[in-house]
Amino acid sequence: MSVLEVKQLHFQFGKQTVLDNVSFALDKGDIAGLIGDNGAGKTTLMKIISGILPGAVGKCDLYTDSVGALIEEPALYPYLSVQENLKFYCKLYGKDYAIIDQFKEALDVTVYLNRKASKLSLGMRQRVGLFIALIASNEFILLDEPTNGLDPKGINSLLNLINKLAKQYGITFIISSHILANLDQVCNKNFLLRHHQLTCLDDEAHAKYKIYSEDRSLKDLIAILTRYGITFERKNHTIVVNDLQAVKDKLTKEGIVIQYEKAGLSEVFFDEN
Ligand SMILES: Nc1ncnc2c1ncn2[C@@H]1O[C@H](COP(=O)(O)OP(=O)(O)OP(=O)(O)O)[C@@H](O)[C@H]1O
Ligand SMILES: [Mg+2]
Repeated sequence: MSVLEVKQLHFQFGKQTVLDNVSFALDKGDIAGLIGDNGAGKTTLMKIISGILPGAVGKCDLYTDSVGALIEEPALYPYLSVQENLKFYCKLYGKDYAIIDQFKEALDVTVYLNRKASKLSLGMRQRVGLFIALIASNEFILLDEPTNGLDPKGINSLLNLINKLAKQYGITFIISSHILANLDQVCNKNFLLRHHQLTCLDDEAHAKYKIYSEDRSLKDLIAILTRYGITFERKNHTIVVNDLQAVKDKLTKEGIVIQYEKAGLSEVFFDEN
């Protein structure tokens, strides 16, 4: 089921083009990763999708009743407690207060529910921000660098929670991050924003595979790939290839069995530079 369809989207701030001919689509339960250098336009794209930034040209159609977003700082009332802030957002979005009890453990905010928002650490604020996004929508949530400021344990539990929300409740997410390993952990689609354009990194043209064989040494494999004219990269003790089918075909001919695994985002990302 389609949740979002973006087609030939164009946006500029004054004379500065930020997004040019951006197209992509998301289905229910997708967790989409958005990567790109500082200033690439990730936050801008999220603001356009969530409807807080007008002026984009092209198609940006949402097929959900609601959208929740944590973009930059969550808007909290500093003199209200976390609980009071959450209740405020429940009222604003017409949700029952029961949602606070439902997710307070998973979001790990129970211990500071009564603390004033002004007294929260950065990581605590992020969690409350995600909570508010969840109150706003149980269908589609945009998270702009949600792992910022979280400790390693917090990052892991946040990513697990996102995964659980996508799988159990079919919530769709877009998450931006500079930590590629974080995105690798949860995203089933990955997009790179560069030079105003969006590239999907999952198609065969971009996918990369690390190959191994128990039958032959690294040196032998390299010699064979070279002999067949197959392009590969050597990364320390692994061989990374793009055309997995060609590699399988040729090595099978040689009677060699290979194991392979899809390379992580960092392998793909740095080669796109
Ligand atoms: N309110 C604004 N007015 C004018 N230009 C802006 C505004 N907000 C952002 N920009 C410009 O738009 C471009 C995209 O910015 P954006 O914040 O979307 O990047 P980003 O990918 O989120 O970067 P980062 O990784 O640093 O968060 C940048 O060149 C930025 O300077
Ligand atoms: Mg940003």
